[in-house]
Amino acid sequence: MTSAEIARTRDEALAEIRVAETLRALEAVRVKYLGRKGLLPQIMKGLKDLPEQNRAAAGLEANELKSRVGEAIEQRGAELGAAGPAREPFDPTLPGLWHRPGAMHLISRVIEDVTRICARIGFTVADGPDVETKHNNFDALNTPERHPSLDPRDTFWLETGECLRTQTSPVQIRVMKSRPPPVRVITPGRCYRRDTTDATHGANFHQIEGLYVDRGVSLADLKGTMAYFARELMGPAVKVRFRPHFFPFTEPSVECDFSCHVCGGAGCRVCKSSGWIEIAGAGMVDPRVFEFVGYDPEEFTGYAWGFGVERVAMVKYGLGDIRVLYENDLRFLEQFA
Ligand code: DAH
Repeated sequence: MTSAEIARTRDEALAEIRVAETLRALEAVRVKYLGRKGLLPQIMKGLKDLPEQNRAAAGLEANELKSRVGEAIEQRGAELGAAGPAREPFDPTLPGLWHRPGAMHLISRVIEDVTRICARIGFTVADGPDVETKHNNFDALNTPERHPSLDPRDTFWLETGECLRTQTSPVQIRVMKSRPPPVRVITPGRCYRRDTTDATHGANFHQIEGLYVDRGVSLADLKGTMAYFARELMGPAVKVRFRPHFFPFTEPSVECDFSCHVCGGAGCRVCKSSGWIEIAGAGMVDPRVFEFVGYDPEEFTGYAWGFGVERVAMVKYGLGDIRVLYENDLRFLEQFA
């Protein structure tokens, strides 16, 4: 046999090994190729009859056949030995296993909806860690040292002096420190407070923060953005209103209400008869915050907002108790599939 013929014989052997379904069939393949009266000994014997210049190549090929086929038989033998005798015959007529289609959790759904709505007007997503420095969570957000949120009864402080962030606002600081304006980001994430759990509070919850900084950004831009956001999130008839408020990191600060998407403002159980639902805190970024991150407050202005994801989920889907979002009760979750 020439070296090409030997190579072909080797490939045939490997193919037969692959389709051998039992150890007995595999043994038959071994005898046929490697056995005492098999093809390999014949090939070896025939080498000396080849023309001198072809002999070396054919010899190499024959050795290759011996080792590759030997290895393949060993490997296939192990597979069949392990799985072979115990393996159930496959019955393609049996009914398949049915997996119930899952549904997205309401918290994830709100985060996705908000991300998509904001992406359409140019906001990208920025991220920050759950364990924050006091500086980012409080000081750089212009929070005075005596502010109640710094109290150990309100915030989870770690032995390192860091804390579990109480809001997603510190991501504003991280983003602004990492790049020059313009900045247009939202920051969905988990927050922690030492709140006793009840129908509207949990020790951990989610917020989404928005931040837009550029030249000439005004409160009117904030209101326009919130109006767009409210319509996209809750329905085309929903309006927004601002009420004066205070946050250390915005000036002026507002509380942003949405008109009630259930009663259209007439007053109902969801809006507690007021026609309005409190959704977000917002305002114009305080110049002091710009100083902390190294932006020039004479050149740049910006707005920010922040709201609770659980709260929006409760309002939008009519939930009476925040705890249903964490109990993993399928009877609840399946309603929103
Ligand atoms: N971080 C605030 C809170 O947890 C919410 C908030 C208010 C965020 C005003 C803002 C903002 O970005 O401008 O109560």
